[in-house]
Amino acid sequence: MASHETLDVVREGPVLHVRLNRPDVRNAFNGKVVEELGLVFREADLDADARVVVLSGNGKSFSAGADLAWMQEQAELPTEQNERSAERMARMFLAIARCRKPVIGRIHGHALGGGTGLTASVDMAFCTQDCQFGLTEVKLGIVPAVISPFVMQKIGAGRARTLFLTGERFDGNEAQRIGLVHKACADEKALDAEVQRTIGELLAAGPMAVASAKELIRSVGALSLEEAIPVTSKWIASLRATPEAREGMGAFLGKRKPNWMS
Ligand code: COA
Repeated sequence: MASHETLDVVREGPVLHVRLNRPDVRNAFNGKVVEELGLVFREADLDADARVVVLSGNGKSFSAGADLAWMQEQAELPTEQNERSAERMARMFLAIARCRKPVIGRIHGHALGGGTGLTASVDMAFCTQDCQFGLTEVKLGIVPAVISPFVMQKIGAGRARTLFLTGERFDGNEAQRIGLVHKACADEKALDAEVQRTIGELLAAGPMAVASAKELIRSVGALSLEEAIPVTSKWIASLRATPEAREGMGAFLGKRKPNWMS
């Protein structure tokens, strides 16, 4: 595994653990994090042995969002370079959202600004109940621009209109209520247990089927019910003919475990 300046990346069997590793600044992300995190998720796509990715943060907080000293430096760049740097940041979130492996977020402490954005860009996020979230950007005179599509996909425009405009902070229970996270856990021990349970569920599923399910969600999301019919019927027709599907259905009917579980 390549070494990283700002991340701690460890593969344990089929699980790739990606930990933000700038605890002194509460894992605020600068240009190096943007570069390394984007690359790790693009590499995870190609890593045939990695079946699940877990994104977490070392130290007291998951992430305090964009590194504000770095943001100030970017603002001083000529317009074109400033814009390119912002686009690289946007593409980091996209690399996480589009990774073909299922991505679990383990969120604790604080997930503010871009930390809330990272929470929104994973497939399933779990947090502690006392974790602090917030689209705090307006309190800093900026806006949650590059993260807005990811956050709005999870919480909707109505909630964004309160949270983007006030910049108010909210806890894990509220994050669960509004659909930003899937479950708020009593403490970090319960959080780890929930992450482990979910890894178990994902590893019991067909690897190709999981990737296909992720792509399916993205593809049908923008279609009407009528428009979806040719897409979804072709989808299952082709999927059920794959070796993995034959193995999965054959294992059920043969009362045995499928080969990806052995
Ligand atoms: N960018 C750069 N540095 C940051 C940072 C950020 N987003 N968030 C925290 N830090 C730095 C602090 O400046 C401090 O540095 P110092 O030790 O040199 O003084 C260090 O991280 C620890 O932060 P501190 O505030 O002392 O820790 P805390 O545990 O009391 O509070 C937070 C943690 C996350 C609640 C608080 O730092 C905070 O509110 N950060 C800003 C979060 C935010 O609004 N982010 C949106 C960015 S778009």
